[in-house]
Amino acid sequence: MTPPSIDPAVLRRMPKVELHCHLEGSLRSSTLIALADHHGITLPTREPRWLYRYHDLAGFLAVYEVACAVLRTASDFALVTYEALEDAAMSSNVRYREMFFNPTLHPDISYQVMLAGIVDGIRAAEHDYGIRCRLIPSIYRQLPASAALEMVDMVAAHRSEYVVGIGMDGDELLDPPEQFVAAYAAAARAGLHRGAHMAHDGPASFITTCLDGLGCERIDHGYHVVDDPALMERLREAGTPFLCATPTPPLCGWPSAFDESPVRRMIDAGLTVILNSDDPTMLHTDLGTEFDKVCNGWGLPPSRAKRFVMDAIDAAWCDASERAELAREIEPELDRMLGLRTG
Ligand code: ADE
Ligand code: ZN
Repeated sequence: MTPPSIDPAVLRRMPKVELHCHLEGSLRSSTLIALADHHGITLPTREPRWLYRYHDLAGFLAVYEVACAVLRTASDFALVTYEALEDAAMSSNVRYREMFFNPTLHPDISYQVMLAGIVDGIRAAEHDYGIRCRLIPSIYRQLPASAALEMVDMVAAHRSEYVVGIGMDGDELLDPPEQFVAAYAAAARAGLHRGAHMAHDGPASFITTCLDGLGCERIDHGYHVVDDPALMERLREAGTPFLCATPTPPLCGWPSAFDESPVRRMIDAGLTVILNSDDPTMLHTDLGTEFDKVCNGWGLPPSRAKRFVMDAIDAAWCDASERAELAREIEPELDRMLGLRTG
């Protein structure tokens, strides 16, 4: 076996920025079960080892909806937000994270109450662990386009310094992107950043719709870009950020062999790939593990490990002064820990 090119402990401990992670996909299984008991919700299984198992995206999303269903009160949201950020800080030294949540999958609680709970969790985690967090309410595309527009109007009507943009997730093959033009236009008018899960299992043409029709600035996943060399060249030149996560392509029909991951082809093609854990507890990973798998699995040099983090800082949706502050704080630490020459 070839030795790791970078010490895995360094990859785990070095400071990081994460831009694609779902709050509801970050619930500890023990917390999910405790909240289900508390609210009298019956689960498909109470065995933690069996809860987070699936063979495809549909199976994954079914469990994701169960995780959404156990979050009923502001204090539930505060608890799981705190735990998600604690896990990111402790496992992977994440210093800044942007986190999705799906307002429309929590119909029994108002957006304002949900947001207040999440913000309480963010403030407590920042106080205890120094991790900062911003939020991205995400359209769940299996619900009607009218619900997406209502969600964006709600987000716009209750602006928070923590909410920086909107996203879109769910099963893209069932509900293609062009249905959501009005919701994205409303988000643009409200001054919100825009991204979307796209070309995960849908065609590369969805990326074009996403960029040119919905006005997205970042692509979440986007693996099918590898099928369209002209689009790949356009986005390489533009430096469009792709927020990737290696655990999910096999759930969407991509080869399960890690070496055949589309993320590897995207890195090799020079795209701006940013590493993420996506749904860390549900996918049995964390950001430190993802850095180790990618950097050591594919023999990338320390300078590339640094670039993943610096590109994430550049693509973050916090304001420019906070991005500069993150870079000032993080870059010297990366140089020292990765043994890179400075100056
Ligand atoms: N919702 C949460 N995680 C998701 C993923 N990886 N793909 C699509 N929708 C999601
Ligand atoms: Zn995702």
